[in-house]
Amino acid sequence: MKVVERDWNWWGYFWRVLHRQRIRGITQWDKKVVQFSIKELGCTRGQTLLDLGCGSGEHTLLLARKGVHCTGIEIAPSLVQYARKQARLVNVKIDYRCMDMKNMAYNEHFDFCTVISGTFGFFSDRQNQSLLRKIQRALRPGGKLLLDIRNARYPRGNGRSWMQFNRGYLLTTSTYDEKRRREHGDCLFIDKAGRVNIPTQNMKKETIRLYTLTEMRQMLHKAHLKYLHVYCGFRLPPEKYTLSYKHNIVIIAEKP
Ligand SMILES: C[S@@+](CC[C@H](N)C(=O)[O-])C[C@H]1O[C@@H](n2cnc3c(N)ncnc32)[C@H](O)[C@@H]1O
Repeated sequence: MKVVERDWNWWGYFWRVLHRQRIRGITQWDKKVVQFSIKELGCTRGQTLLDLGCGSGEHTLLLARKGVHCTGIEIAPSLVQYARKQARLVNVKIDYRCMDMKNMAYNEHFDFCTVISGTFGFFSDRQNQSLLRKIQRALRPGGKLLLDIRNARYPRGNGRSWMQFNRGYLLTTSTYDEKRRREHGDCLFIDKAGRVNIPTQNMKKETIRLYTLTEMRQMLHKAHLKYLHVYCGFRLPPEKYTLSYKHNIVIIAEKP
């Protein structure tokens, strides 16, 4: 069997477009996320919003269709290309930027910032903290942040599963380092031509840092962001965080 190393540009499209489209109920979920965000942040037509790590742009597009002026930052060129095409197809203007979020340098530019689907914790603790500070700088005074993060209090272990996908077979494994609170995901896809697609060596080293609510509150404080409240995910009506070890938590903060 031929083994092919694929970089994030390839896997990004694989996960965020091909695989995502096959998730049952995803369109409804996207609508819910946006409905929740608009209600919680209080976004209105003509205001500005930054969607950080916007992926294939589903949420960005739904927000922009409500008249919010959206900017989406995404590192994978394949996803930016896809997101731009989707916006063009429905004649909606969105400022998509293909860049590393660590390098953004906005100053009091946005009314809102959204970081959705666990798009936080990709870097070292110091860099994650510095990213929060950059978000704070990017917001106008009174601007709000919606942060949907993986909850470190949710019990995690090591897992492995096979599934059939796109006339091929997909193996996913996840390992959790309890001490460092870092999760690593690996995958392998045997496509219909029999090729074994694997991540590059660099990707294999990547881990995501999971934080508790207490840690996040400290980090927000350090970044001069005022913690407002937290919810258990995107259910409507919003469900208050009850220390119930939910998989994801949604934090709302504000730039004073
Ligand atoms: C978990 S996905 C979430 C995508 C989208 N927010 C959603 O909810 O569907 C995280 C996204 O962040 C992007 N990403 C990862 N590291 C990044 C970085 N350093 N700068 C910009 N985007 C990044 C990934 O390519 C991926 O599309």
